[in-house]
Amino acid sequence: MLTLGIETTCDDTAIAVVRGKQILSNVIGSQADLHQLYGGVFPEMASRRHNDLCLPILKQALKEAGVTLDQIDLIAVANRPGLIGSLLVGVNFAKGLAAATGKPLIGVNHVAAHLYAAWMGEEPKLPALGVVLSGGHTALLHIESWDKTTLIGQTQDDALGEAFDKVARMLDLPYPGGPHIERLAKEGDPHRYPVHAGKCKDRPYDFSFSGLKTAVLYTLKGQNAQGEIQLTPQIQCDMAASFQRAAFDDVLAKVTKAVSAYNCKSVVLGGGVSQSQTLRTFLAEKLPCPLMLPPPGLSLDNGAMIAGYGTHLFETCGGDDLETLDAAPRITLSSGL
Ligand code: KG4
Ligand code: ZN
Repeated sequence: MLTLGIETTCDDTAIAVVRGKQILSNVIGSQADLHQLYGGVFPEMASRRHNDLCLPILKQALKEAGVTLDQIDLIAVANRPGLIGSLLVGVNFAKGLAAATGKPLIGVNHVAAHLYAAWMGEEPKLPALGVVLSGGHTALLHIESWDKTTLIGQTQDDALGEAFDKVARMLDLPYPGGPHIERLAKEGDPHRYPVHAGKCKDRPYDFSFSGLKTAVLYTLKGQNAQGEIQLTPQIQCDMAASFQRAAFDDVLAKVTKAVSAYNCKSVVLGGGVSQSQTLRTFLAEKLPCPLMLPPPGLSLDNGAMIAGYGTHLFETCGGDDLETLDAAPRITLSSGL
C-alpha cells in the first residue's frame, strides 16, 4: 500500500510517501526562518505559509518517491492536536485530494505518530515505556501492544521542548531553541547553576518544567526578574548546560523509575527533543534496557510518521469519512493514545 502522509500541525509543512515501513520520500518545508523573527510560532503566519507550501511540497514528495498521485492508495493527515489554523490547512488539503481522486482518507493523532515513528525502524520489545518529548507534549506511556497503551505521566505545565524554546529565548538564542541550547551546552559547565525540575506531589511520573524555566529567569535577572540580563558567552553556555542537565536528569529519573515499576523491556523515544544527540547518548548509557529511537529524519515533525501510522490504522480499523473528518486542536491523553 502506498500512503501519502500530510503534517501541518504546527510550523512544518511536511509530506511523505511510504510503502508500509519503507520511506520513499519525506519532504519537510521548515518555517523556522519565518517564526525566528517573532521568537516563536506566529499562528496566522504559520497557516498562511502552510497554504503556500502544501502544493509544492506535495509535488516534490511525489517526484522524489517516483510515483504519481494516481498510484497513491491512502491519504493520511495529522488532524489532531495542534494549532487550529495550521491543522485546518492540512486537513482541507487532504480532503481536497481525497475528494478529487476518490482515495480513502484517514486522520492521525500527531502525538501517537511521534511514538509510532520508532516502529518505522526496528520493532521495540514489549512491554515498552513510550516517552514523548516534543514542543507541545511530554508524556510517559506504558505500551503493552501498539493498540494497548496507558498514560502513566505527563507534564503539568510546559512541555519539555517548549521549556527549551523559552529558555533559549532568555539566552538570546534563535527559535527553535533546542538545537542551540544543545550546541552551547557542550561548551558550558552543567553544575554552575544548581537549577532543577519540579516534583509533582503524589504523581511520580508527572513532569513540571515551569519552575525550572523561572529559576533560569531569576538566576539571569535576579529575584522577581527585576534586573537586566547581563549575558556573556560563558553565562550563555553555563546556563544552557545547567538547564539541559536539570531537564535530562529529571527525564532519566522518571523514565528509570517507570521502567522498573512496569517491567518494561525497552524505552521508545519520540518527538522533537529526541533529536538531541546529548539526550540519546545519555539515556542509552544510563537506562537498564534498550533505547529505541525514530529512524533518521523521523524525530522532528514529518509526514513519514503520519503515513506510517495512518497505514497501520487503516489496515486495522479502516478509513475516516470525508464529510465528517475534522481538525481538533486539543486531545486529552487521559487514558492512553
Ligand atoms: O515534535 P516537534 O518537531 O514539534 C512538536 O510536535 O512540538 O518538536 C519540536 C521541539 C522544539 O521545542 C525544539 O526546540 C525541540 O523539539 N528540539 C530540541 C532539539 N531539537 C529540537 N530540544 C532539545 N535538543 C534538541 N537538539
Ligand atoms: Zn510534533
